[in-house]
Amino acid sequence: MNIVITGATGFVGQALCQYLHEKGHTLMVVSRQPDKAHATIGVPVMARAAAIDFAGQTVDAVVNLAGEPIFNRRWSEAQKQKLIASRLKATRDVGELCQRLATPPRQLISGSAMGYYGDQGSREVTEQTSPHDEFAHRLCREWEEAAQQLATDQMKVACIRIGLVLDRDGGMLKPMRPMFRLGVGGRLGKGRQYMPWIHRHDLVRIIDFLLQRDDAEGVWNAGAPQPVTNAEFTRTLAASLNRPAPFVVPGGVISMALGEMSQLLLTGARMLPARLEAAGFRFDYPTLEKALTAIEHRAA
Ligand SMILES: NC(=O)c1ccc[n+]([C@@H]2O[C@H](COP(=O)([O-])OP(=O)(O)OC[C@H]3O[C@@H](n4cnc5c(N)ncnc54)[C@H](OP(=O)(O)O)[C@@H]3O)[C@@H](O)[C@H]2O)c1
Repeated sequence: MNIVITGATGFVGQALCQYLHEKGHTLMVVSRQPDKAHATIGVPVMARAAAIDFAGQTVDAVVNLAGEPIFNRRWSEAQKQKLIASRLKATRDVGELCQRLATPPRQLISGSAMGYYGDQGSREVTEQTSPHDEFAHRLCREWEEAAQQLATDQMKVACIRIGLVLDRDGGMLKPMRPMFRLGVGGRLGKGRQYMPWIHRHDLVRIIDFLLQRDDAEGVWNAGAPQPVTNAEFTRTLAASLNRPAPFVVPGGVISMALGEMSQLLLTGARMLPARLEAAGFRFDYPTLEKALTAIEHRAA
């Protein structure tokens, strides 16, 4: 397939490109720095600054992951606007490309996150669960709506509500592993908040799985089947590194330091991949212990 990918230079996008390249697909990536994209991604890609630059090509599918990083800066009103606007623009640009292509792509897979559900306490959350209204929900809802608006008879649209992506060289483990290795890791607040997680390898496999289906539309929870609480995550990460994690960072301190963004650390959703499991997707890393052990034993 010829696949256009936005956000291809990111933590998820790099692994996705490597996986799809190995499967023989042709990759066209949209990047704000197209000259550096090939070196960053590490496999041959055609890189352009704008989606519309691929209007003369044959495009079978699009994967849309681009957006301002969620956890980089405190959520000022301006930063919240940037988080939303960057995702809406990338998605609308994809829409413009699809309209200009001689034949529209068959499939658009577009990003979203477990944040769609907002704070759900400890109840199980499937694609049917009603969201809790908060900023993360509004961000994901607008992103998903922009993508779903692009659906036509010719092009199916699937939004993936991605859990916390785990691998060595990025995502949340990048800042956490060094601290836990030093033995100064610890629980966040009461530790009862759920952390839906997914090994990056399985997320890439999920995107590939959906690309291969003709009925991949609507929303799909993309988290492992066994989400854990923060306390359990803390224990399992510490054990995988053979270190203690004796500390507790009080919720009040996190709230003071991060403001509204602290919701990402102190609340969560026990998100289950109900549709993926019903569709027969098999996770290579269904448990956190298996995922973290594999990540630790991977060659650095
Ligand atoms: N990683 C996670 O744990 C996680 C969890 C849930 C959801 N997600 C979502 O999944 C997507 C991919 O995640 P990721 O971890 O791979 O993200 P990432 O590493 O931050 O990469 C996202 C890519 O988006 C582009 N980008 C960054 N800021 C942008 C801006 N202001 N405007 C337009 N493009 C911008 C960048 O590409 P260029 O610099 O090449 O333009 C970047 O490589 C993101 O949208 C993220 O919100 C991630």
